[in-house]
Amino acid sequence: MELAVKEQLDKILSQYEGESSNLISILQAAQERFGYLPKEVMEGIAKFLRLPESTVYGVSTFYAQFKLTPTGKRIVRVCRGTACHVRGGARILSEVERRLGIKSGETTDDMEYTLETVACIGACALAPNIVIDSGTYGRMTIKKVAEIFGDRGKIKQNAS
Ligand code: FES
Repeated sequence: MELAVKEQLDKILSQYEGESSNLISILQAAQERFGYLPKEVMEGIAKFLRLPESTVYGVSTFYAQFKLTPTGKRIVRVCRGTACHVRGGARILSEVERRLGIKSGETTDDMEYTLETVACIGACALAPNIVIDSGTYGRMTIKKVAEIFGDRGKIKQNAS
C-alpha cells in the first residue's frame, strides 16, 4: 500500500475499535476520504477488523453507497424512474452519454464526470430529471442537455 494511503487509512482506523460492528462506519469514513474504496484500503480494513477480505468486499458491493472504482469530480445522475421514463428519460440518458462520451456507470478519462442512473428522485412533476452533484435539472430536453453539456467546463453551479 502506498505510504500516503496507509497513513490516511491508519488515521481513520485510529478512531475506531477493532470491532466488526464498525465495518460500515469505517467504510463510509474511508470512502469519504478517498472518494472510493481502493482494494488496498479494503484489505487494510479487513486486517484491522480481523475479518476475511471477502466479507469486507461483500459488504462494499452490497451497499450502493460504496464505490469500488474512482469517480469523476462531478457526478451526473439521470433519473430512470417511471415518470421520467415515460417523458423521454431514455433519450435524455442517450444524449448525456453521447455528450460525455461514456455509458452509464462509467467515468470520463479526464476524471471530470461519472455518469449514473438513479431510481425516482422524488421530483416527478419536473420529469424528466437529471441531477448534477446535488443540483436537480428538471424538464430536461435534448436542447437543454446540449446547453448544459455543450461546453462541459461551464455546467451551471446553481441548478434550477
Ligand atoms: S421518476 Fe424521475 S423524479 Fe420521479
